[in-house]
Amino acid sequence: DKTRPVLLTGASGNLGRALAPALAAAGYRLRLTDISPFPDALPEGAAFTKADLNDGPTILRLAEGCQAILHFGGISTEQPFEVVLGPNIRGLYHVYEAARRERARVLFASSNHAIGFHERPAGNGELLDADCAFRPDSFYGLSKAYGELMGRLYWDKHGVENLNLRIGSSFPEPADARMLSTWLSYADLARLMERFLAAPRIGHAVVWGASKNPATYWGADHRDRIGWEPEDTAESFRGKVGGKVSGDPVTERYQGGGYTAMDYTRDKPSP
Ligand code: NAI
Repeated sequence: DKTRPVLLTGASGNLGRALAPALAAAGYRLRLTDISPFPDALPEGAAFTKADLNDGPTILRLAEGCQAILHFGGISTEQPFEVVLGPNIRGLYHVYEAARRERARVLFASSNHAIGFHERPAGNGELLDADCAFRPDSFYGLSKAYGELMGRLYWDKHGVENLNLRIGSSFPEPADARMLSTWLSYADLARLMERFLAAPRIGHAVVWGASKNPATYWGADHRDRIGWEPEDTAESFRGKVGGKVSGDPVTERYQGGGYTAMDYTRDKPSP
């Protein structure tokens, strides 16, 4: 159904700016929102409204009549707890209340940092399934775990369908050795959005947001519900970034990489 609009939060961010033109080209009517102005030319059929995710009434108004909310807005890096709290916790509540009222589905841009303290696979092929325990590696990652659980609550109690995309590293290209495992291309991300919008039924789903990377950390998830398979691979960048490792034993041990090592005050594991 391409007649009912789609609300995209975080539209002015890196992923929002990649998704907006792709979804507009696929024929979706977009309502874009962000606290920062949209820096590009508006794609066809799209409108932009500047809004703070902390402002509940405005988020409700923006979602009116929408079939789906693609929730990419908020703090996207590790920050002090008080900075994360408003946009990522209260803002998420506003998004879910709006979805409940509009009977809209939600795609939540979650993160590998919700599970970042799982160790990287030891090369024995043992991959992490999406129903693993949350092991957040930061206040940021904790806010993503909370967001996924908010989706769990709103599905169980209100039937709000939601897909929680645990994005690895979504940038134009992998930038270091870890991203040979975690990279998600913009094209795979855009294709996933289209599958999400077209899927007949989702329930509460968790999907690893990574391209078809042979060095992946991640195994089973709920991608069958939307019929998505990634097509790109980070492997073609191995020659360029394969040698870029941090040398820090904490960073290299855990899936969350550098986020696990930030402000780390336990004794460091031996390398
Ligand atoms: P970004 O930082 O470029 O975009 C986030 C946007 O949210 C920004 O445009 C910012 O202005 C907006 N925002 C921040 N506070 C706000 C508020 N109070 N009200 C309204 N808007 C606010 O980040 P990026 O890379 O585009 O990521 C998008 C989403 O995907 C984020 O939720 C991020 O946590 C998630 N993600 C991204 C990954 C990546 O590799 N790019 C990895 C894992 C998760």
